Amino acid sequence: MSTDGNYSQTRREPEKHPDGMQQTGLGDNETHSDEVEAIENFDDMKLKEDLLRGIYAYGFEKPSAIQQRAIVPCCKGHDVIAQAQSGTGKTATFAVSILQSIDVNFDATQALVLAPTRELAQQTQKVVLALGDYMHARCHACIGGTKVSEDIMKLGQYVNHIVVGTPGRVQDMITRNHLNTNDIKMFVLDEADEMLSRGFKDQIKDIFRKLRPNVQVILLSATMPIEVLQVTKEFMRDPLNILVKKEELTLEGIKQFYVAVDKENWKFDTLCDLYETLTITQAVIFVNTRRKVDYLCSQMHEKDFTVSAMHGDMDQKERDVIMKEFRSGSSRVLITTDLLSRGIDVQQVSLVINYDLPTNRESYIHRIGRGGRFGRKGVAINFVTLDDVRILKDLETFYNTQIEEMPLNVADLI
Ligand SMILES: Nc1ncnc2c1ncn2[C@@H]1O[C@H](COP(=O)(O)OP(=O)(O)OP(=O)(O)O)[C@@H](O)[C@H]1O
Ligand SMILES: [Mg+2]
Repeated sequence: MSTDGNYSQTRREPEKHPDGMQQTGLGDNETHSDEVEAIENFDDMKLKEDLLRGIYAYGFEKPSAIQQRAIVPCCKGHDVIAQAQSGTGKTATFAVSILQSIDVNFDATQALVLAPTRELAQQTQKVVLALGDYMHARCHACIGGTKVSEDIMKLGQYVNHIVVGTPGRVQDMITRNHLNTNDIKMFVLDEADEMLSRGFKDQIKDIFRKLRPNVQVILLSATMPIEVLQVTKEFMRDPLNILVKKEELTLEGIKQFYVAVDKENWKFDTLCDLYETLTITQAVIFVNTRRKVDYLCSQMHEKDFTVSAMHGDMDQKERDVIMKEFRSGSSRVLITTDLLSRGIDVQQVSLVINYDLPTNRESYIHRIGRGGRFGRKGVAINFVTLDDVRILKDLETFYNTQIEEMPLNVADLI
């Protein structure tokens, strides 16, 4: 397994401003990737003994490329923008950094992590708890869809060193004074480009304003479009940029294919034909709307295929059950929307189907990244109608990648 991402780390000479000051931020039309040292062993990162124990007990032996480069700068207190391909260990990058930086003997919330979905926040909380097990670090998932009163109770019962949450609920808890922000010294935005996009931006800004002015900010994502990098200038202090060129975002281990379906109503039969392939390991099928998730799911059930479905209109209890079944492997095929396109880590997933092509370029990278985690094999299959051909070509060009026609022996590649 190889997770050595391709990092563009050639040192660009800092540009001179007309006034002679050096420009350390981002140029207007280009990204600037800082040269950073790679530390090849967790042992050499000067981590606390009980944190190291937690890391090894979790099964990690060597840090991944992004972990080698970003953990130490994060621990030193730098603002960091960390981009790395899907499934290469960004979660542990910030989780280890947080655990190293907090003081568990200090009863205060010292780090706040925000994620775009409840499922991702819950998953991240579990990773933090596992890595921080021997430290006795406490971490609360502060997410929507749960009882507010329960959140209030959990936040009031004892102090959580770390809070991982979704923006709405976290904002609510801060406003109502149930989450004390005075001692939060680290602010992490996972899936940062999504968090700083339309839907969440104002909430994030509002939360940020309630944190102390010198709070350390860490942003992570597999995708960092230039517009987002521009926005980060507003609230980051001379961040260290660890960035990947967009042409290097697709992973070698994930084979990408298309099936020409010509018309929308051919998609269903194509999917049925692929059903056996879907169940070799586990598969995620992406469609573009919640209604279509329900519709496709019931169509599949009518044909006696076992599939489960999940989208944002379902209540949280139901979502939790579906997620649990999928994580345990008791359900193997999950039909969903972009709700689950980011961050979700189910190691057994090796096949992703874009039943509908995504409506934006970033989403493509995130969706196909649900398979082939941490260097595992993965296959992505795109259903392409005549109208979609243009979009597929655009993806190929943008990411400098090849999406070939699906071979007959596709099952052998999984
Ligand atoms: N150093 C390591 N050694 C072994 N496995 C690791 C290591 N770091 C991370 N992993 C595993 O790799 C998988 C992917 O990690 P993670 O979810 O953090 O990826 P990510 O970079 O956040 O991806 P995405 O962009 O999809 O969110 C997880 O199952 C995690 O346990
Ligand atoms: Mg992630």
